[in-house]
Amino acid sequence: MLQPATHLSHLSYELRGALPRLADELERQGRHVIRLHLGDPAAHGITAPRAVTDAVRHHLTASCGYGPAQGLPEARAAVAAYYRDRGLTTLEPRDIHLGNGVSELILLALQALLNPGDEVLLPTPGYPLWAAAVHLAGGTPVHYRCDEHADWLPDLADLRAKTSDHTVALVANTPHNPTGAVWPADILHVFADIARQRQLLLLSDEIYAHIVYDTQHTTLAGLAPDLPCLTFGGLSKTHCVPGFRAGWMALSGPHSTTRAYSEAVTLLASLRLCPNTPAQHAIAPALSRIHQTETHLTGPGGILRRRHDAAWEALHDIPGISCTRPHGAFYLFPRIPQGGHDSTFAHTLLREHGVLVAPGSGFHHTETDHIRLSTLADTQQFKEAMHRVAHHVEVAPVGRASSG
Ligand SMILES: Cc1ncc(COP(=O)(O)O)c(C=O)c1O
Repeated sequence: MLQPATHLSHLSYELRGALPRLADELERQGRHVIRLHLGDPAAHGITAPRAVTDAVRHHLTASCGYGPAQGLPEARAAVAAYYRDRGLTTLEPRDIHLGNGVSELILLALQALLNPGDEVLLPTPGYPLWAAAVHLAGGTPVHYRCDEHADWLPDLADLRAKTSDHTVALVANTPHNPTGAVWPADILHVFADIARQRQLLLLSDEIYAHIVYDTQHTTLAGLAPDLPCLTFGGLSKTHCVPGFRAGWMALSGPHSTTRAYSEAVTLLASLRLCPNTPAQHAIAPALSRIHQTETHLTGPGGILRRRHDAAWEALHDIPGISCTRPHGAFYLFPRIPQGGHDSTFAHTLLREHGVLVAPGSGFHHTETDHIRLSTLADTQQFKEAMHRVAHHVEVAPVGRASSG
């Protein structure tokens, strides 16, 4: 019998696991499922800016060959200019690495960094790829908590308490998945202070940087120009093209401190040859129109704002469910009625009411009393889903075992 590697036993990615497979099966049986589990704007009919798709179409025939491992120079120049505008004044194209989505770059960044026994500080709840990538790179994830009673912001005392002599890196994620919290500058200053004192690499996942409502996003690296910092971003969310797999990471900080690490990342990037070439042509036109795109999505009347606000209202009306209002990204992370279990709740909701949500424990949340909902579905669909959730909450005795 063919056995998978033992170190994979630590890994999980429930967002594409048993529940979505059950949803596929129910649909094959003719059931209608409302899918609120993934952060894919395109799947909910939110279209990419025309300039982004046109750029790929225009360059398709000329993009059939392998490109440079680090990414196309013009795309890297555009990303460097974008971050220079955000305070990283010394950033150059050579400091930018392009990848097949942020996902690939997270794996590369940690593989290039970690030795056995190294610890990486990660938020809980948090996007599950980060912990998986630390494991795959041979390190140990150590979670610091984000506090629901403080708008889901990081608990700095817990973060300090979890820092040890083995810690080598500190991960931030703002706006945050799954809670939608937008971490303010004073919190990020403390991250920088801890990294400075402990000589840690800062890794900041800012893929939702342009999806904020009535608040400002702060780029962590801009507050710590003296420190090595990797900032991750891409086109999947703001530009609604997750299928293009276009992402980047910017390595800031004094070149004298980052040179060897950057060479290691380039070596690993060379082993996978290059990022998807056609999609990289979308990066410069996407970034040159970032303000228009942002206004279109999250400005007054913007499609993400409308859907997000309506989703919040619809969820808010359900007795027994409570939720901290998110200021960024496109998720809600509500607490389910007392005594409920997230996986049981999600399974029963899917099987009996045809609504697919993600259990909070899939985000390494230590408690099993939250679920994540994406707010991307059109408002009528979302309201219908909340109607079903309300019915589920009303009829399901707390803690009832799932029927499947
Ligand atoms: C916080 C976070 N980081 C990274 C990713 C991966 O993004 P990409 O499509 O660029 O691989 C996601 C996708 O949902 C995410 O939510």
